[in-house]
Amino acid sequence: MRLDKLLEAAEVGSRKQVKRLLISRHVKVDGQVIQIGSFNVDPALQQVTLKDKILEGPAHVYYMLNKPKGAVSAVRDQRHQTVVELISQSDRRHGLFPVGRLDRDTEGLLLLTDNGKLAHQLLGPLKGVIKQYEAVVNEGVTEADVQAFQRGITFHGGVTCQPARLEILSASQAESRVLLSITEGKFHQVKKMFLAVGKKVIYLKRLTMGSLVLDEALSPGEYRPLTSEELTRLQAYFNERSEGND
Ligand code: URA
Repeated sequence: MRLDKLLEAAEVGSRKQVKRLLISRHVKVDGQVIQIGSFNVDPALQQVTLKDKILEGPAHVYYMLNKPKGAVSAVRDQRHQTVVELISQSDRRHGLFPVGRLDRDTEGLLLLTDNGKLAHQLLGPLKGVIKQYEAVVNEGVTEADVQAFQRGITFHGGVTCQPARLEILSASQAESRVLLSITEGKFHQVKKMFLAVGKKVIYLKRLTMGSLVLDEALSPGEYRPLTSEELTRLQAYFNERSEGND
């Protein structure tokens, strides 16, 4: 990983402070002063010190990606760019994968990690992690739809969904903009829920997953590590849920 990213992950200071620490010759790799933030290091193989204190690499990595349209939620793909390929080589870790899946034409919040246990907690069907989406639909969404979503939509074919909260932001006959919160992750769930009430999703973006909220400063295709606060809150969110499920 990049030396500046390692320092940021170790929470030795802000990005600006990390730059200053590097310039003031406080950081060494295997005993040699390094002043370049983009310098690649591997804390498992090298000793990185700040003012002679050893910095361990993070046990796991967690990246918040604003997934762009066109990328597939996979590690490898023969035909399309994958979300893992959007992570720069120096930030990639062995075993890095997306937690769950967004369709190729869906944008928004996607978590990537090399921590399989956390992914399992997030995806476990019993956990009921709330995911909020912003959607644009090709017709007027109505109060009757809001009620139907609240009761629980049944797909054509008989599969029934848990009750979902639908909020209409704007609606005209030609187009509606809505927020939808769901607690499951059925395949193409949002699109199929609207198809069940005779409407088509023409734009879809995930805004939240559990306590994680998409950082709107990230343009589609950009990512950043989760802050320690985000990670702690996410962990607390799971703990509450698992207590609720006992
Ligand atoms: N529901 C969908 O239909 N597509 C997604 O990408 C996510 C949820």
